[in-house]
Amino acid sequence: MATPHQQTSSATLPAAQPQAGYLRLEGIVKRFGALTVVDGVLLDIPQGAFVTLLGPSGCGKTTLLRIIAGFYEPDGGTIQLDGKRIDHLPSHQRGTAMVFQDYALFPHMTVGDNVGYGLRLAGAAQADIKRRVAGTLEFVGLAGLADRWPNQLSGGQQQRVALARALIVEPKVLLLDEPLSNLDANLRERMRWELRALQQRLNITFLYVTHDQAEALAMSDWIAVMSGGRIEQWGTPQEVYNRPRTPSVANFIGAANLRPARVLEKNGATVRIELYDHALSMPAPATPVGDEVLLCIRPEAIKIGIAAPDRAQVSLAGTVTRSAFLGSLIRYWVQIGNEEWVVDQSDPGAETIPYEGDVTLAFDPARVHLIS
Ligand SMILES: Nc1ncnc2c1ncn2[C@@H]1O[C@H](COP(=O)(O)OP(=O)(O)OP(=O)(O)O)[C@@H](O)[C@H]1O
Ligand SMILES: [Mg+2]
Repeated sequence: MATPHQQTSSATLPAAQPQAGYLRLEGIVKRFGALTVVDGVLLDIPQGAFVTLLGPSGCGKTTLLRIIAGFYEPDGGTIQLDGKRIDHLPSHQRGTAMVFQDYALFPHMTVGDNVGYGLRLAGAAQADIKRRVAGTLEFVGLAGLADRWPNQLSGGQQQRVALARALIVEPKVLLLDEPLSNLDANLRERMRWELRALQQRLNITFLYVTHDQAEALAMSDWIAVMSGGRIEQWGTPQEVYNRPRTPSVANFIGAANLRPARVLEKNGATVRIELYDHALSMPAPATPVGDEVLLCIRPEAIKIGIAAPDRAQVSLAGTVTRSAFLGSLIRYWVQIGNEEWVVDQSDPGAETIPYEGDVTLAFDPARVHLIS
């Protein structure tokens, strides 16, 4: 049975499927003029999950979030939340709230008025609004700042105000559009954990948009990798990183050595593949294999040295063309024949002199992922 996560064969379903059906998008299409920006998106998000839409700039992430929030009308498809069609409802009746990339705080309103905006819109009583604004500001760590103006806050504080303004309406689904992208690296990392902890504490379903793969891997229960208006893969962070289904997913999530290779033999559960002059035996993937496959080998799975380590079953001779010291690792670019390999040497320490010239690359075939 095909599930709504999958746009292709059900044979490639990830091992663990979430229980489906809380936020369901079926066949969502959005065109701007001749351009199809969202191209038949199917998503099925479980209640209480932290789901990240990850994809390159321009792939349609913001557009999809705006469609769910009710700011854009789709050209096709349906949206259900908690068993109810919501795509015909106005934004404030959908049970969703959105945190915008640029925060979109109202500059002419105090922090307190910004946060209370949704409650005023819903006609809540003044005293109730005041109490809940104070409580929500305290919750996001901004107690006492209700009378400040947005331009008197740091970027991180503005981000929390935007979050408080969305949370106060107690949404069933919180939509977050790259909320951390304006923050410095340290604050961004801290806010990742804070957001994740907040989501778990409130048990709200989060749909989080980013093009930062580290952010997606660190925070999510599930990642939907988006490309060209479509969902290319749905899976846990481990699945999308270790078993990318397409070359674009492999390339987008981390660095990948993608090598075309010839299939020598298919024998039920295993395939034998020729890579240069090595024959590798590997478990056959779920989908049928043609005569040519693509091998995906992550840079950290490869050892670089002068001689091959004992345990490696594949070793390849190459030449270092350049290297970069990145603190916790050295990244090498190594030429083998006409192909360039990317290899990471972790924890080089202070004394390591980077390899130059002729080297040996070695890896265990178990670390090779096959894209059929
Ligand atoms: N209102 C609009 N009118 C016309 N084209 C639009 C409109 N909004 C977005 N687009 C186009 O739709 C495509 C997808 O845009 P979208 O903002 O959804 O991308 P994104 O994945 O959020 O990218 P980013 O990571 O850069 O924010 C882009 O090619 C964009 O130029
Ligand atoms: Mg965007």
